[in-house]
Amino acid sequence: MLHLAHLSDPHLGPMPAAGFGPLLSKRITGYLSWKLNRHNVHQPHVLEALLADIKSAGVHQIAVTGDLVNIALPAEFPRAQKWLEGIGSPADVALVPGNHDAYVPIIWKLGQGLWQPFMSGEAAVPGKPEGTIFPYIRLRRNVALIGVSSAIETFPFQASGALGATQLDLLDQTLKRLRDQGFFRVLLIHHPPLPGQATTRKALKDASQLEEILKTQGAELVLHGHNHRHMHEKLASPYGPVHIFGVPSASAVETEHKPAAAWNMYTIARQSGKWSCTVTIRGFNEKQQSFHELKNFELYP
Ligand SMILES: [Fe+2]
Ligand SMILES: [Fe+2]
Repeated sequence: MLHLAHLSDPHLGPMPAAGFGPLLSKRITGYLSWKLNRHNVHQPHVLEALLADIKSAGVHQIAVTGDLVNIALPAEFPRAQKWLEGIGSPADVALVPGNHDAYVPIIWKLGQGLWQPFMSGEAAVPGKPEGTIFPYIRLRRNVALIGVSSAIETFPFQASGALGATQLDLLDQTLKRLRDQGFFRVLLIHHPPLPGQATTRKALKDASQLEEILKTQGAELVLHGHNHRHMHEKLASPYGPVHIFGVPSASAVETEHKPAAAWNMYTIARQSGKWSCTVTIRGFNEKQQSFHELKNFELYP
């Protein structure tokens, strides 16, 4: 049995002092958005309570699906690295980046590269070009976590993502190989994977190609963030349903349009030759300042 936690979009605050130079870019739009609105939504005490709740649940692996930072200021990346190290060791925390982590270009080793130990797996991905990170595969008991990056730089006011032909091709082969090997396959991606799950401005550009791969090869779970909402979709495949889950931002207080922070736990087991997976959704309660179970159900009743 494996207990897998999923959280997303912590959007770590507060905003570091930016200075004038770094804001002469797309960053200015995100900076103003943070100062006017988002700093009220993403609260460190909510995120701390969420991590404490995960810790008390005794999970084996934690999946974090991106948007750790806000406008990709150089000072945001080492701070997020410390935050990751505070959650657990790289072997226990699997990360994929989000669009805010690629807000503007930044030298790899000073940006997302600081998080690389958390974006790696021990299993080989045949055909992966030398020096590339994604997809990565980590195997935990009979569960395979596959991390891909949909984080690309975009024009101002855009928050779209893309996997690109190479990742899609490798993912297609990886899902097939891991299915043949009998693994419960969990895909980690920041953007919602299906067409129509996000507005065009915020969508995964190659969602129809990804949908086709998921329909053809199957996958047991897809975990994503980005929309800052509870989401659950089901896609049919010849190998059983593909369950696709999104979670709210891990640091959010409830607003008029978005729910309060939540995280999901998946308890995955193989019994009498069949998979079982229990989903537990735990959300932040503002009055009690703590997390409570919102839902608990079986994926394969
Ligand atoms: Fe986000
Ligand atoms: Fe996002």
